[in-house]
Amino acid sequence: MRIVMLGAPGSGKGTQAQRLQKDFGLPQVSTGDLLRRAVADKTPLGLKAKAVMDAGELVSDDIVLGMIEERIGKPDAAHGFILDGYPRNGKQAQDLETVLKRRGVTIDAAVLMDVGFDILMKRLTGRRTCSKTGAVLNIYFSPPAELEACKKAGGELLQRDDDKEETIRNRLQVYQRQTAPLIEHYEQRGLLKTIPATGEVDAVYQRLTTELGLRR
Ligand code: AP5
Repeated sequence: MRIVMLGAPGSGKGTQAQRLQKDFGLPQVSTGDLLRRAVADKTPLGLKAKAVMDAGELVSDDIVLGMIEERIGKPDAAHGFILDGYPRNGKQAQDLETVLKRRGVTIDAAVLMDVGFDILMKRLTGRRTCSKTGAVLNIYFSPPAELEACKKAGGELLQRDDDKEETIRNRLQVYQRQTAPLIEHYEQRGLLKTIPATGEVDAVYQRLTTELGLRR
């Protein structure tokens, strides 16, 4: 199955994609994670991308296209993948269609994680990533046991550089301007599945897997 995850920053794309990966073996392909790794490794691409990401703007279409082509060409993505954070504008949606056509495959579903803007700010300012396990957590919403488990595993709860209030505001505006029009793009192709994405993480996951027809 090949899935596109759409939704505003903080809507839970990464959280739910991690679960799908764990339960169904579909690799989570996150352009944000790939870019953050390049930044951490100080590669030429990472050095170029850092300032753009810190400002909450989109990195150039060519850079992310190269990353996506390389990642979905790996053996573990041969039978399916979850695109988390790609495409993010009309040009990227076209690029994706071209790449998939070359491979003779198509997207099966575009999932919209639907969350009101008022909730997103709290989710994003509260987000922390466990340095040891990579789990995406939240100081306001995660069960204390999950936050504690990170510390017990010897990890630290790290905040992303772009999860500062001012940058978040710009990321939300960029989403509205450049990414939200893709909702119509996928609706017109009959691929859109809208998931109400507020409430407990488990409840959202239940809705998502039901909508996608996935069973454990
Ligand atoms: P990226 O990493 O893709 O960030 P984003 O789209 O802004 O999305 P987020 O990761 O912030 O949110 P999410 O929806 O994954 O939510 P999460 O599950 O973490 O991109 C970062 C930057 O990289 C971009 O700004 C851009 O510069 C660049 N970039 C990336 N892709 C690009 C592309 N294609 N083109 C150009 N540039 C690109 O959840 C958020 C928080 O909420 C967590 O703390 C989580 O624990 C919590 N949470 C989740 N679900 C629930 C729930 N149901 N209830 C309570 N809390 C919840």
